[in-house]
Amino acid sequence: MTPARSAIALVALLVGACSNELYREDIDGSEADVPASYRNLQNPYRDNVDAATVGQILYDARCVSCHGDTGRGDGPQGVGMVPPPTDFVAASLPTEGYLFWKIREGGEPVGSEMPAYRGQLEDGQIWEIVSYLRLFYEEEPLYR
Ligand code: HEC
Repeated sequence: MTPARSAIALVALLVGACSNELYREDIDGSEADVPASYRNLQNPYRDNVDAATVGQILYDARCVSCHGDTGRGDGPQGVGMVPPPTDFVAASLPTEGYLFWKIREGGEPVGSEMPAYRGQLEDGQIWEIVSYLRLFYEEEPLYR
């Protein structure tokens, strides 16, 4: 490799390293991104076991391809995505308002490949999925 080429390679490497940092800070959504209109929403189906059962059917149809059937973010469609589909088991349990917002509005607000489901799923169906998703998280499922 010529010195010029190795300099270019080094720059590319550094830019890659920086954009990885950026993704952690800026692209992966956080509670701070949740708009006020979503922040304090509560699931109307709290503790309703039937809702989680319906939510599982919807999850299996719409979400498994990226998030995987055990919620570990290892579905075949998500391979190579940056940021990757969230591993719900390892992640800390977000608020219900955050989960509802993320599924409804998708990754658009933060520039990720998480699809937006508004217009495809009714709000009630999104809440049913939220009921099911909560079961994946290892963290104590207290309502926040
Ligand atoms: C095409 C791939 C893809 C599909 C399909 C998909 N997701 Fe995602 N999802 C992602 C990616 C990538 C992220 C991580 C980036 C982000 O948070 O925006 C993500 C993040 C999330 C998060 C944020 C979790 C956290 O703790 O921050 C939730 C909740 C979520 N997805 C739920 C769903 C649900 C529910 C469905 C089905 C209705 C679904 N996703 C379908 C790719 C996908």
